[in-house]
Amino acid sequence: MLHIQNNVSLKSYNSFGIDAKAAYFVEINHESELNELFKSLNDEHHPILVMGGGSNMLFTKNYQGLVIKINLKGIAYSIDNKTVKLTAAAGEVWNDVVKYAVAKGFGGLENLTLIPGLVGASPIQNIGAYGTEIKDIFESCTAFEIKTGNILSFFKADCVFAYRESIFKNALKGQYIITSVTFNLSINTEVNTHYGAILHELQQRNIQQPTINDVSDVVAHIRVSKLPDPSTIGNAGSFFKNPIVAKSVSNKLLLNYPDLVFFDVGNNATKLAAGWLIEQCGWKGKVIGNTGTWKNQALVLVNYGAASGQEVYDFSVQIIQSVKDKFGVELEREVNVF
Ligand code: EPU
Repeated sequence: MLHIQNNVSLKSYNSFGIDAKAAYFVEINHESELNELFKSLNDEHHPILVMGGGSNMLFTKNYQGLVIKINLKGIAYSIDNKTVKLTAAAGEVWNDVVKYAVAKGFGGLENLTLIPGLVGASPIQNIGAYGTEIKDIFESCTAFEIKTGNILSFFKADCVFAYRESIFKNALKGQYIITSVTFNLSINTEVNTHYGAILHELQQRNIQQPTINDVSDVVAHIRVSKLPDPSTIGNAGSFFKNPIVAKSVSNKLLLNYPDLVFFDVGNNATKLAAGWLIEQCGWKGKVIGNTGTWKNQALVLVNYGAASGQEVYDFSVQIIQSVKDKFGVELEREVNVF
C-alpha cells in the first residue's frame, strides 16, 4: 500500500548521516506501485528525487519535493554454458549481490566488493573500484519511464557509460527509475588483479593463483583499511572524481611534482589521483568543526557526527580552491549535492 509521508528526516537514509528533511517521502516495495504513485502525484510533490542507498548524496538543505525510496527486492540467474546472467532488483544491497555471486562462483563482481549503496544506482554512475567498472559486466537494465509508465530495457550500448557517468545522469536525467540490473558473469572468469593495491595484498598473503573469493577478500580488506565505515562515520566514499586532464597538463605538473600520481587513460589524457592532490595541499586527516577528510584517504570527506550538509559543502569548496591554487586543476564533486 502506497503511503506518502510528510516531513520525513532523511538522516538514516543517507550515508553521510545528514539530518535533512524531505517534504514528502514514499517507499516503493513493488514495481507496480510506481505507476500507481505517478498517477497520484500533483505539482506540490515536485521536484522528485529517487533514492537507493543514499550513499552518494549530500543534502545541504531540506528537500522540498518527494523522495522516492526504492525497496524492490529479488535476485535470479540463468546459466548458459559458462556464462551467467544474474539479475538483481534495484533495491538489493549492492554488496549482498556481490557476496551472492562470489559464493556461487560467478566471477565479475568481486572487485566491486563492499561498495556501499543499492543495485539501482550502480549503472547511473557506472560504479567502479580496483580496476573494474560496472560497464565491464553490465548486460542490461530495466527502468520505469516516468512519462509513460512503461518499463523499458537498456542495453550496454544504450547507457553511454564513461568514468562515473552514464546516460541516466546526463541526457535522460530524471526521466527513468531503474528497476533491475542484469550482469554478465562467468563461471570460469580470469580474475582481474592488475590494480596495484590488489597485487600487493595478494603477494603479502602469498597467493599465486587467486580465486574470485580471494580477490573479494583482498578488496574487502583494502577498503576496510582505507575507507571509513559509513555505519559509524558518515561519508559518501570519494567526494570528488579523479580529474582527467590532457597529457600535456600532467607532463607540466610532473616537472614540479615528480611524485605526481597519475594513470594514462588513452586519447592523450591522464587521470590524476585527486586524493594525492588533496593530500599535497595539506588536507589529509584535517578536521574542521564537525567535518574533515579521512585520515587514510584524503578523497573521502566525513561527518564526525553533527555536521550539516552545508558545513561539508563549504569544506569541499575550500579543498577545490586550494587544489586549484596549487596545481591549476579543478576538482569536480562525485557526490550529488542537493
Ligand atoms: N592517494 C594519496 N593520498 C590519499 C589518497 C590517495 O596519495 O589521501 C594516492 C594513493 O597512494 C594511490 C592513488 O592516490 O596511489 C589512488 O588511491 P586509491 O587507490 O585509494 O584510489 P582513488 O583513486 O583515491 C578510486 C575511486 C574509489 C575506489 C578506488 C579503488 C574515484 C573518485 N574513486 O579512488 O571509489 O574505491 O579508486 O579503485 O574514482 C568512490 O567512488 O566512492 C570510491 C570509493
